[in-house]
Amino acid sequence: METALLKKYNVAAPRYTSYPTVPYWENDKFDQAKWFQALSKSYHQNKGEGISLYIHLPFCESLCTYCGCNTRITKNHAVESPYINALIKEWEMYCQLLGERPKLKELHLGGGTPTFFSPAHLKQLILSIVKEDAADIECSFEGHPDNTTLAHLQTLYQLGFKRVSLGIQDFDPKVQRLINRFQTPMQVATLTDQARSIGYHSVNFDSTYGLPGQTIEGLAQTITEVVQMLPDRIAFYSYAHVPWMKPGQRHYTEKDIPQGNEKFALYQLGRALLIDAGYEEIGMDHFALKTDSLYQASQKGQMHRNFMGYTHQHTQILIGLGVSSISDCGSAFAQNAKTVEGYSQQMANHSFAIEKGHVLNEEDTVIGQHILSLMCKNKTEFSHEIPSVIVERLAPLIEDQLVKIVGKEVSVMPIGKSFLRNICMAFDERLWQKQPETSLFSTAL
Ligand SMILES: C[S@@+](CC[C@H](N)C(=O)[O-])C[C@H]1O[C@@H](n2cnc3c(N)ncnc32)[C@H](O)[C@@H]1O
Repeated sequence: METALLKKYNVAAPRYTSYPTVPYWENDKFDQAKWFQALSKSYHQNKGEGISLYIHLPFCESLCTYCGCNTRITKNHAVESPYINALIKEWEMYCQLLGERPKLKELHLGGGTPTFFSPAHLKQLILSIVKEDAADIECSFEGHPDNTTLAHLQTLYQLGFKRVSLGIQDFDPKVQRLINRFQTPMQVATLTDQARSIGYHSVNFDSTYGLPGQTIEGLAQTITEVVQMLPDRIAFYSYAHVPWMKPGQRHYTEKDIPQGNEKFALYQLGRALLIDAGYEEIGMDHFALKTDSLYQASQKGQMHRNFMGYTHQHTQILIGLGVSSISDCGSAFAQNAKTVEGYSQQMANHSFAIEKGHVLNEEDTVIGQHILSLMCKNKTEFSHEIPSVIVERLAPLIEDQLVKIVGKEVSVMPIGKSFLRNICMAFDERLWQKQPETSLFSTAL
């Protein structure tokens, strides 16, 4: 890949888990009443379809300095019980609002570190929320290899969980020291074997390129070890460096972070090794074996993307419970308070903890669909002639052979798959209307 191309496109760019992206939500035009109205309407229109539920479990025992997620670091496990009770209360409030217990189609426990919580507390949470047969629900959880136990795997499996996602990031001891996150290949291999023999039918590994201290040799070794364990899916994320939001990332210096060509070489190496080992590249940052449901959904054009990342099925409604969780009902978004104290206080007062949100207008909906289609299908089609402003914005990307336009369709070219965020930006009307005055997003590559 030419250096000039990398330089040109390595600009700050959103990851597009929503459109409008969170910094562009019109919070001043939003209130809880609007969210409840939009959610109830959408729920009743899509009755019977089932909803996705995301539960955020923010606690971690130690800070992984690279981490960009909403976390609370503590070794005090007394926080578990009150937090579980708050989540159960929030779910009951949603059930009351909707007039019934929504049928669940998908349930994901994310973090933070869900396996910070004891198996008994997770069981209490799931049994309070899931009243139907969990066999019909796609249940998954994120686990830290350093504290996920056999008891976690067994308990959650009995409750209906068939998918587990393990955070690997990198096995190189030098990188692990810099990001303050430790797990050995042996721990991961043992957990993967245990999960498989219990009956889990999908194991995902999260890995990251562009981490501080990462080298070509170190990453090659990590990927070699990873593919030997044959996880069904591998997320291979581009490290997002956002120290203005995550001061933990100041524990190392910019000099430690591979950038530009160096970072892109890491991506290319990882991608080549994964493809050599039989993995298919799907969507942005994701690889899967051909037997995996996400790959199969991508082949059928059924892959979907929401705040939980890529999923193999679509639900109109996603409800997020817990600190900082985002909900999406198709026509509006809402986000909960970002601190444990703020969230817990609202639950103690029997009120929702929604702090901000956005009601989509017609243009947002159309743009959101184009961006979703590009992210999931590498193409998007217009029902009318492509607006000249989009053609103009895409012109340089067409010249660089990242995308092509044929008739009413915009499609991503093979090189363009590495620049999906840049391609989506051409459609991001709100970003073009108002360029950010301060740093909002990490760089695209
Ligand atoms: C909150 S983490 C949870 C992982 C799991 N609970 C654990 O501790 O192993 C979710 C995933 O987001 C990704 N992630 C976190 N911070 C990131 C960053 N700054 N850039 C890119 N990816 C990041 C990592 O791959 C991570 O596994």
